[in-house]
Amino acid sequence: MQIFKEIRPLKAFLQQAKKSPVAIGFVPTMGALHQGHLALVEASKKENTITVCSIFVNPTQFNNPDDLARYPSTLSNDVELLKKVGCEVVFCPAAAEMYVHANHIKFDFGSLDKILEGEFRPGHFSGVALVVSKLLNIVTPQRAYFGQKDFQQAALVKKLVADLNFDTEIILVPIVREADGLAMSSRNVRLTTEHRKNAVAFYHGLHKAKALLLAGTDFDKVQAEVKRFCESHAGIQLEYLALADSTNLSLTKNVTEQSILLIAGYAGEVRLIDNLMLTDEN
Ligand code: PAF
Repeated sequence: MQIFKEIRPLKAFLQQAKKSPVAIGFVPTMGALHQGHLALVEASKKENTITVCSIFVNPTQFNNPDDLARYPSTLSNDVELLKKVGCEVVFCPAAAEMYVHANHIKFDFGSLDKILEGEFRPGHFSGVALVVSKLLNIVTPQRAYFGQKDFQQAALVKKLVADLNFDTEIILVPIVREADGLAMSSRNVRLTTEHRKNAVAFYHGLHKAKALLLAGTDFDKVQAEVKRFCESHAGIQLEYLALADSTNLSLTKNVTEQSILLIAGYAGEVRLIDNLMLTDEN
């Protein structure tokens, strides 16, 4: 496995590799890797000759400096995990390598970056779009892999790639869950034992919402019931439960075949998100 900390030698390596007919798959991460990330690498390995995984805790996407400071960093463990799954290239730059000058570029995706996560984390998606643009320009992959857990992020990246004519196909990989149903997240390691146990309320809340909606319950009532249910677990606080059209993420109160439920909230001090397509089994 090749490890690069700097952009120039990574680009030189990839340019050399591209002299033969190769397909490059890209998995952008912020490290603290878990099975969810490894599923992205595995998906990439199936479809490409070379998989590049980036590990970079991107400061421009954190609207809360405490959240950035507390973001877990486990680089040597991450590198070992990537070796085990046969990832060919790791790119783990320092912040100064990625952001040489103070950066003032801002992205505006209309309503797509103002709703849901955008409402609770102002500026977050502009930072994501900035770093994803930079990474796609550095790696120039044929395909890039994103987890369905960050559904809004994936929708926004698809729009970014289409609007800015990147030659990269964006591939969404299903959520990987713990045995009890909690969506895997790098943030889960920060949960206390009690909050870890209760955090599964978000997943059960999604299933409760799905069952109620399919039984014809009005969405306002579903929201109130899921809030009551989640917050009956100690330390759990619901930020939103939303129903949207998964094709364009427009918010709605009506169920269709394309509907997706999205949930976000706190388990203690840790903010978690999850989602469920109404057609999903689990
Ligand atoms: O999903 C993430 O881990 C990050 O938002 C990403 C896509 C790596 C950009 O920093």
